[in-house]
Amino acid sequence: MKKTFLFLLSFLSLHADDMGALLFHGNCVTCHYEVESKSAPAMIEVRKRYKAAFPLKKDFVKYLSEWVHNPSAEKSIMQDAIAKYELMPQLAYEKDVLEDIAAYIYDTDFTHIHSYHKPK
Ligand code: HEC
Repeated sequence: MKKTFLFLLSFLSLHADDMGALLFHGNCVTCHYEVESKSAPAMIEVRKRYKAAFPLKKDFVKYLSEWVHNPSAEKSIMQDAIAKYELMPQLAYEKDVLEDIAAYIYDTDFTHIHSYHKPK
């Protein structure tokens, strides 16, 4: 309850960039840790692979958000990850939300301590 309230508060006052950060940390890190691969490939690894395939931000954001919107083995650029962890489940997010998250991933260097702090 308290968390939902905080989330809504943040929702009203944040820009798209911060929204991406908030949503990423609220939703993706359950499976994707930033630098350690446990139940899913670490985000630093996903980012590296996607950046190699899509150097331009607009291509990166488009492909990643579309893939997460509708995960498919055929369109995966991380076949080895599917073999290791199984295909990522589909999550119920809107496309524009996923675009904000994808833009945040593109812009974030997960090797350094970055500015986002989880609300307590
Ligand atoms: C329930 C666990 C789970 C959650 C939650 C989750 N993922 Fe994943 N994700 C995985 C697993 C497992 C893989 C590796 C297998 C694969 O690629 O399908 C993966 C792979 C990926 C890939 C690589 C796709 C490819 O080309 O194969 C991307 C990009 C990705 N996740 C983004 C996200 C984003 C963004 C979020 C949050 C909105 C998210 N994931 C939330 C489990 C999860």
